[in-house]
Amino acid sequence: MLLMFCMGAINLEAQDVSPAPDEVEALLEVATQLGKKGWNRNMKLCNDTILPPKLEADNKVVCNCSFPGGVCHVIAIYLKMQDLDGTLPKAIEKLPHLKHLGLWANYLSGNIPPEWANTKLETLSVGVNNLKGKIPGYLGRITTLSYLNIQNNMFSGTVPPELGGLVNLKNLEIQAGGFTGPIPSSISLLTNLTDLKISNLLGDGSEFPNLESIAGIKYLLLSNCNLSGKFPIYLTRMAQLKILDLSFNRLNGSLPTNFDGNILEKMYLTRNMLTGPIPDWIDKRDTRCWKSDYPSQFPDSFQYSSA
Ligand SMILES: *[C@@H]1O[C@H](CO)[C@@H](O)[C@H](O)[C@H]1NC(C)=O
Ligand SMILES: *[C@@H]1O[C@H](CO)[C@@H](O)[C@H](O)[C@H]1NC(C)=O
Ligand SMILES: *[C@@H]1O[C@H](CO)[C@@H](O)[C@H](O)[C@H]1NC(C)=O
Repeated sequence: MLLMFCMGAINLEAQDVSPAPDEVEALLEVATQLGKKGWNRNMKLCNDTILPPKLEADNKVVCNCSFPGGVCHVIAIYLKMQDLDGTLPKAIEKLPHLKHLGLWANYLSGNIPPEWANTKLETLSVGVNNLKGKIPGYLGRITTLSYLNIQNNMFSGTVPPELGGLVNLKNLEIQAGGFTGPIPSSISLLTNLTDLKISNLLGDGSEFPNLESIAGIKYLLLSNCNLSGKFPIYLTRMAQLKILDLSFNRLNGSLPTNFDGNILEKMYLTRNMLTGPIPDWIDKRDTRCWKSDYPSQFPDSFQYSSA
């Protein structure tokens, strides 16, 4: 009986989750700088002790209370579409156990603070905000990152080569970020990437980057990046490649005659300068294919999908 009573007490205590006092202060500092209203010292700032399955949520703080002595630490902050109009808080650094930060689709301005270089973040989403300025090279020091999304902001300058230091990165999403090309060659160091999405690069254009080392790529989107050169033949050997979008570039030459080595489901090549016949392998797959009216030339709207 006594044992059951004690276990009950422990469970009750476990439900009353509250982060360590210094982390409460850090959370309030974070809220103030983000423009997040309504948080205070007297409320339960941890909503949950388990991470959401898709690592995203609208309005949630997740704590881990499995630390020695039952101490809870903040491991995730999700504030998606919360109309936040502040800036990115340097106090994130004061949450040493924070692994996931999602601030998708707010009105946040400014840039990524230097203090974030000291974090152990694994997923970071600041996409769809009003962030400005050059992407700082120190972002490349958060080597724990496996997911980085900074898309749809108003950054300027080039994508810094330091991002090649993010060796654990699986997803890199920087579509329409405001950047000027070229794509840094250090991207080839990100050999664990499965999803690489870059679009709308400004500037004079450049050669198609060498991505041969990223052998496990599944989703490759390099659209409207002003890339020139031939269709990279090594893409046909990438066994996991499922979606390929190289639309709105200046690729020339013909498509490879063989593309059997992978599981390609969708390919977008709209608006390039490709020439030559549409290869047989496109017909062999169960495709919906928008083909040319001009047999020897790909039209503007050439697309292929086997979905
Ligand atoms: C998390 O807690 C905050 C503060 O109590 C609350 O405003 C928010 O709605 C909660 N989120 C969820 C998903 O329950
Ligand atoms: C919570 O912390 C414990 C102890 O450090 C760790 O073993 C566990 O993996 C953590 N859980 C999550 C979801 O981070
Ligand atoms: C990244 O890829 C390398 C091989 O290129 C592999 O040894 C390593 O385990 C991978 N890391 C992760 C986190 O998957």
